[in-house]
Amino acid sequence: MNYIKFMALTILASLSLFGFTSSEEIEINIIPKPVSVKINQGHFLIDQKTKIFYNFESDHSTNITSAINNHLIKFFSFEPLQHSFLREPKKGSIFLKLNRALKMPKEGYRIEISKRGVTIEASAPNGLFYGVQTLIQMMPADAEKLNEIKLQSVQIVDFPRFDWRGLHLDVCRHFMPKEFILKYIDYMSMHKLNTFHFHLTEDQGWRIEIKKYPLLTEVGSKREETLIGSGRSSKQYDGVPHSGFYTQEDIKEIVEYASKRYVNVVPEIEMPGHALAALASYPHLGCTSGPYKVATRWGVFDDVMCAGKESTFEFIEGVLEEVLALFPSEYIHIGGDECPKTKWVECPLCQKRIEQEGLKDEHELQSYFIQRAGKFLNSKGRKLIGWDEILEGGLAPNAAVMSWRGVDGGIAAAKQSHFVVMTPGSHCYFDHYQSDPQTQPLAIGGFTPLEKIYSYEPVPETLSQDEARFIMGAQGNVWTEYMKTTEHVEFMVYPRAAALSEVVWSEKGERDYTEFLKRLGEQVKRYDVYGINYSKAALDK
Ligand code: ACM
Ligand code: ZN
Repeated sequence: MNYIKFMALTILASLSLFGFTSSEEIEINIIPKPVSVKINQGHFLIDQKTKIFYNFESDHSTNITSAINNHLIKFFSFEPLQHSFLREPKKGSIFLKLNRALKMPKEGYRIEISKRGVTIEASAPNGLFYGVQTLIQMMPADAEKLNEIKLQSVQIVDFPRFDWRGLHLDVCRHFMPKEFILKYIDYMSMHKLNTFHFHLTEDQGWRIEIKKYPLLTEVGSKREETLIGSGRSSKQYDGVPHSGFYTQEDIKEIVEYASKRYVNVVPEIEMPGHALAALASYPHLGCTSGPYKVATRWGVFDDVMCAGKESTFEFIEGVLEEVLALFPSEYIHIGGDECPKTKWVECPLCQKRIEQEGLKDEHELQSYFIQRAGKFLNSKGRKLIGWDEILEGGLAPNAAVMSWRGVDGGIAAAKQSHFVVMTPGSHCYFDHYQSDPQTQPLAIGGFTPLEKIYSYEPVPETLSQDEARFIMGAQGNVWTEYMKTTEHVEFMVYPRAAALSEVVWSEKGERDYTEFLKRLGEQVKRYDVYGINYSKAALDK
């Protein structure tokens, strides 16, 4: 017997002493896939007497211990584990070690599990929170193993590839209750997604209370009825009024809930297009002064905000003023997509603006509009982000671009040294079909199965290394024209958001779809316990 074979057999024999019959059986199924995992011998058992210690005390230690306890309560019917401050790790415990000197990005972490206990170390609370998400995924997910929390000894070093790991939700086409938004954020944080793009205003409904403009919710949050069937062909309506909005108190609760899960909420206030609900509330905002009606069908509408009237900009600033007070996000999304120019061509005030400002055409008028919003946001210490149409007629200084009509907008912006979030319809639209349309509920169209999302690479090859630095990350978009219920949203989003989480967290060369599916098989057991209504389209193979 040669030496290597002898050693291999010895290791296998010793592993079997620890309850493994072969090294094959040790599977670490973390999503998104960590940067490095070293499997060691032995294990640690968490039981009701295990204590959590942290070497710092703040709201963050509460957030992070709560993340552990919430899972133990939900999954293992535990009582919350006791926790307290302690400077050094203690045998048999879970130790959360904040080490500002650690050379790691703020969302990175190290976790060591051994017979002696668990230590999670990070340079910032964000990393500790993600270390805890990994710890949770080290816990058993199989129903038959739920009586014992046995953790494999490992050393994991992990940090994300991109800073913007986003998921969007349109709550305008169909309103989603606050309780669901909180769950949506929870599920994002389980996958180490950190940016929730909250699409709050639309043609079909205005969903955020603005105290200065009460009609936005009194009028704009209600539509008479909704189209039945496909927006392309149907002329049938359901006759059922649809309404809903978040009060400022609701918004504060959502933002705070998200911050405890290290999720930043980016609000979107659409302008100058997709604004019929605002125009129905305050008709002077449009070029013709109306009357306008909150839209009852889907699509793109000619009536948009008038770019000629000063009162339009007063309105926008008044709305944004309240939005800024509610959302601490550095970036504020102002939409900017799909704004037809037909009304601007006919409007004397818009034409006068073009002339006075020396603009070339209506595309430059769109740019003028967005630049004014950008200047206002900059004056308040924030930055503008918008859909890739904001490139039309020239980008506002500091503006970031969300590239949705493919990747060309993102490439153009990065080449102009503007930051970019990639959300191309081809790979990142979760409102598309994920399986044979014959077997699926009605969707807007497209075909974006799990594997296609998993295959997405956010940095286009045409960018130089320098330009590639401007790609902040990627995001999945969830437009809800055809999703009336929260269950349907979950069905469209999961497990697709799990695939996306790996696209934005793990290195390109580390991704392997077949192996991802194996890990996903474990993750969906957690979805079952959490009650996430995920699609099994990619799993039933
Ligand atoms: C978009 O899908 N209209 C951004
Ligand atoms: Zn006008």
